[in-house]
Amino acid sequence: MLTIRKATSGDVLDAWDIRRTSVLAACAEHYPKASLLAWVDGSPTDKWASVVERDFYVVVDEGLIVGTGMLTAASGQVDAIFVRPSHMGRGIGRKMLYSLEALARDHGVASMRLDATLNAAPFYRCCGWSGDSISTYRTSRGLELACVPMTKRVALP
Ligand SMILES: CC(C)(COP(=O)(O)OP(=O)(O)OC[C@H]1O[C@@H](n2cnc3c(N)ncnc32)[C@H](O)[C@@H]1OP(=O)(O)O)[C@@H](O)C(=O)NCCC(=O)NCCS
Repeated sequence: MLTIRKATSGDVLDAWDIRRTSVLAACAEHYPKASLLAWVDGSPTDKWASVVERDFYVVVDEGLIVGTGMLTAASGQVDAIFVRPSHMGRGIGRKMLYSLEALARDHGVASMRLDATLNAAPFYRCCGWSGDSISTYRTSRGLELACVPMTKRVALP
């Protein structure tokens, strides 16, 4: 059974590994490999670890962390939607997104936004998000990647 819970400091390495392996598995058709490696290689910084501990949620399948996601309630920004490659295509990404939407509603957020990787934009459209234009996402390491800015209105209770 899939459950979603707040991340803890013990989830940092799993979250880092899921981010790295999901990007290398699913983004390769849309970005040069060197760009993807520059984005996700290396080890988590203390700053990244503290963001995981403070803001991340994880999807757990029988004790195994299989997906991540985060919401910045002040801005409605969604980030870090990553699913373990062995578990892609089982509704885990959608479950995390809907859970973050419920969290946004609880915080009185009217509209959510995110920057989708080019490969993931169709997935977000399946989940009710809108956006078609191509823009540039700047990573914390200063890398520039093409992205699709997308939005979704939060359904009222
Ligand atoms: C994109 C990602 C999060 C999707 O997670 P997932 O758990 O595999 O997706 P789900 O199983 O929840 O899919 C939900 C719906 O989206 C569709 N979908 C998922 N990925 C898709 C894709 N790449 N293209 C088109 N549709 C897609 C599914 O078919 C499903 O629709 P259905 O119910 O009508 O069949 C996952 O593939 C991933 O981690 N990718 C690599 C990292 C990444 O790019 N993350 C996004 C950062 S912005």
